[in-house]
Amino acid sequence: MAEKVRVLLPEEDVNKRISEVAAQISRDYEGKQIHMICVLKGGVFFTCELAKRITVPVSLDFMSVSSYGAGTESSGVVRIVKDLDEPLEGKDVLIVEDIIDSGRTLAYLIEILKQRGPAGIRLCTLLDKPERRVKKQVKVDYTCFSIPDEFVVGYGLDYDQKYRNLPYIGVVEF
Ligand code: IMP
Ligand code: MG
Repeated sequence: MAEKVRVLLPEEDVNKRISEVAAQISRDYEGKQIHMICVLKGGVFFTCELAKRITVPVSLDFMSVSSYGAGTESSGVVRIVKDLDEPLEGKDVLIVEDIIDSGRTLAYLIEILKQRGPAGIRLCTLLDKPERRVKKQVKVDYTCFSIPDEFVVGYGLDYDQKYRNLPYIGVVEF
C-alpha cells in the first residue's frame, strides 16, 4: 500500500455532528415527509446515519452518477449510472452527498431532478471543500463539516474504491 491515512475527524465527532444536523433537519421539515436521495456510492454511510436520527417520516431512493475516474481529480464529465426508482412529483427532496468538491456532480444532478417536479429540493452533505468550488451556483443547505483542500477517505468516501468502510474521516497521504 503506497498511501497512508491520517485521522482528520474521529468517529465520535462525525456521529455527534450528524445528530446535530439531523435535529436541525427534523425541525425544518416538521409536519412533512422527507424524500431522501442518497448519491451512491459515497453517500450511503452518511445517508444511513442521518436517516436513523431524523424524527419526521423519511422515504429513501438511490441514484448513482459518475464524475470521477480512478484518481483524485474530477473529469468534469457526469453521467447517470443508476437512476431513481420513484418519481419526484410533489415530494420534498433532500439530496444526501458525501462530499462537495468542484460542485459539478451536484450542479448537474440538481438540474435533472428539478425537471421532475418535486415540491422542493435541498442539499445535505457530510463534507464540503469550499475552496475547490467551480460551480458557485450550488447552494448547500446542510453541511456537517467544511474541510480544507485535502483528499479524504472513510465514512463512504474512497480512494480507488478502498477505505469506504473506515468509521472515521481520514486524509490520504501519498
Ligand atoms: P465534485 O463533482 O467535484 O463536487 O465531486 C463530487 C464527488 O467527487 C464526490 O461525491 C466524491 O465521490 C468525489 N470526491 C471529491 N473529493 C473527494 C475526496 O476528497 N475524497 C474522495 N472522493 C472525493
Ligand atoms: Mg459522491
